[in-house]
Amino acid sequence: MALPHGSLFLGFDSSTQSLKATVLDSNLNIVKSEQIHFDSDLPHYKTKDGVYRDPSDNGRIVSPTLLWVEALELILERLVKSGLDFGKVAAVSGSGQQHGSVYWKKGGSGILSSLDSKKPLVDQLGDAFSIKESPVWMDSSTTTQCREIEKAVGSALELSQITGSRAYERFTGPQIRKIYQTQPEAYNNTERISLVSSFMASLFVGAYASIDHTDGAGMNLMDINQRVWSKKVLEVTAPGLEEKLGKLAPAHAVAGNIASYFVERYNFNKNCLVVQWSGDNPNSLAGLTISIPGDLAISLGTSDTVFGIASDPKPGLEGHVFPNPVDTQGYMVMLCYKNGSLTREDVRNRCAEKSWEIFNKYLEQTQALNGGKMGFYYKDHEILPPLPVGFHRYVLPNFTGNDVEGLNEQEVKEFDPPSEVRAVIEGQFLSMRAHSERFGMPSPPKRIIATGGASANGSILNSLASIFGCDVYTVQQPDSASLGGALRAAHGWLCSQKGSFVPIADLYEGKLEKSALSCKLSVKAGDQELVSKYALLMKKRMEIENRLVKDLGRC
Ligand code: ADP
Ligand code: XUL
Repeated sequence: MALPHGSLFLGFDSSTQSLKATVLDSNLNIVKSEQIHFDSDLPHYKTKDGVYRDPSDNGRIVSPTLLWVEALELILERLVKSGLDFGKVAAVSGSGQQHGSVYWKKGGSGILSSLDSKKPLVDQLGDAFSIKESPVWMDSSTTTQCREIEKAVGSALELSQITGSRAYERFTGPQIRKIYQTQPEAYNNTERISLVSSFMASLFVGAYASIDHTDGAGMNLMDINQRVWSKKVLEVTAPGLEEKLGKLAPAHAVAGNIASYFVERYNFNKNCLVVQWSGDNPNSLAGLTISIPGDLAISLGTSDTVFGIASDPKPGLEGHVFPNPVDTQGYMVMLCYKNGSLTREDVRNRCAEKSWEIFNKYLEQTQALNGGKMGFYYKDHEILPPLPVGFHRYVLPNFTGNDVEGLNEQEVKEFDPPSEVRAVIEGQFLSMRAHSERFGMPSPPKRIIATGGASANGSILNSLASIFGCDVYTVQQPDSASLGGALRAAHGWLCSQKGSFVPIADLYEGKLEKSALSCKLSVKAGDQELVSKYALLMKKRMEIENRLVKDLGRC
């Protein structure tokens, strides 16, 4: 079954710093893309990098919920101005930053279902939330709740075997528990808890949309095998939680028809379908068309993530297992770093005159292996490894790349600017290589598909190819999450027409090579001798990392 000629598929990505939109035609080519940057396009919310960092509450990081609503209105207006005919959109879907949560007040559903299309959404939803600031994935304030939940379930490993991950501060279950403990009135006054993904879908359908199986796995609440809420974990997280979460749904399901608000205000067709939204990383997996076990995706966005597919993953104490959003039997496995682009920007601003051009010049003029200089840069509390804010720099004197046995690192206070630039890049990629090998991801990968804001930087991709020793590919646009959202809109539309799940390959069969989804070779694999030298540095790095975790970490 083909997509009808002339129809369009609209995908969004409501991420940390921005809201992006991608429109695909029936040949899966990009016909439009738009972006709203939260800090600069909506300055009255006074966010920095899309969030508020609360100086008085250790690690509390939130975003104003209404910011995401106003960003949606602004991007729709921009799409109208760009000449997009919403009447041709057959289906809408999208991505949300994972783990972030929205708290609808009692009566919220009534507000949502009676929106007046003559007025902006933001004017009507101001009173719809019991908590106005949504905890987001960068939040690390719930260590106590994480340990309480793991203990009550049995152990960290048991929780991981049930939900796909041990308890993590940013995961929604620990966040909900903190709200229940510290703001019990607001918790009791909450009718529904949405993720960012299901929140955005709810706006489009004018009713509470379900949380999908894939993003639901980022909550420490869902049974990853059965794909239902785990009663055992719900019970130890907060009382009355199941009712507030609603039912789960598969990612390919339809959440509903588009609400009359959008039909009247933006001329959407009333038959336009809203397909379940999901998390940004799962939708990136879809947008990058990852279907081969040897493929490794590396996303260099606000967070850095490493992910791939797996058919029989074994959840453990590191990394995450989520259902695959475009394969009802399969899974995706993932590692996540908090110190991604914002930390690279910090080094760029301090050492390279705030310019990516100078940053790249430094990267190119320094030697691979950085003369044995190694850095650990945690501008924010890191997830992997769990280490507090701090920078740690070391030199391995006499490192020639042949052996590290017997070489003792020396801690130093600073590096010269070019070495600092190389250290932040090499450090992150060495950590990714070490942790992905330890997690059982392909080693070496058959190829890496790079995505996210920094994947537009060829010099950074060169280092990636040298450290992993494989070819690096990219897709047409660095935002694979909104591309994946649009693709999933088309996939959900097809499944709905057929009345049952359709393999995703049927959607792009014969179109892939010519479409926006086709991956292009960006950098050839590095020299294999260098790959072995990096392996030695990686071993040393992990020794130092383990020691830092033992001395400073909290797990
Ligand atoms: P999000 O996770 O919010 O979706 P993006 O994937 O849009 O983030 O990535 C945004 C980041 O991309 C910015 O913070 C910026 O540091 C980074 N970025 C953009 N262009 C470049 C570049 N040329 N080199 C390195 N990083 C870049
Ligand atoms: C994944 C994670 C981040 C967010 C933000 O676990 O926390 O990648 O999805 O984009």
